[in-house]
Amino acid sequence: MNIDEARKLFNEYVTLEKIRLHCKGVESVMRAIALELGEDEEKWAIAGLMHDMDCEAEPDIKNQGRKAVEILKEKTDCPEDICHAILAHNESNLGVKRESKFDYALSAADNISGLIYAYGLIKGTLEGMQVKGLKKKLRDKGFAASVRRDLILDIEKSGLELGRFLEISIKAMQEISDEIGL
Ligand SMILES: [Fe+2]
Repeated sequence: MNIDEARKLFNEYVTLEKIRLHCKGVESVMRAIALELGEDEEKWAIAGLMHDMDCEAEPDIKNQGRKAVEILKEKTDCPEDICHAILAHNESNLGVKRESKFDYALSAADNISGLIYAYGLIKGTLEGMQVKGLKKKLRDKGFAASVRRDLILDIEKSGLELGRFLEISIKAMQEISDEIGL
């Protein structure tokens, strides 16, 4: 499966604008992490794009990820490590543990993109966002309370230092600011 095939399938299954924007954000952050760590950019971008592709087909959070992998296995030659990362991003519900750098990166990207987006919304823009300000929001657990701080901090298990992760994530989200309207 290449990124074009993934995008086509994504467009079939994801119609809600809010989820589309979220997935594009995670795709962009995953691409940036892969570039930083010298990993497969396209593969990591695909995982970012597709990780919530079953949100509409499977509204029950307890099963999300499982349905996505089912669809991916039926319709594509999706590699096993992408499937595992997608399952493990819902570790708390599915019980599939994060094990690889790739797994840790996807769960961290999923949550940092949400935090950056929420922070961007109150600023009205992503322009000029600094790591220092984002770190404050990371510590303020009352802000965007649904964002899993623990999964963001676990980025270091992928070999990437937290500060650098925040820096490249902000930049990755700024690169698609027009698309996400910030
Ligand atoms: Fe997500």
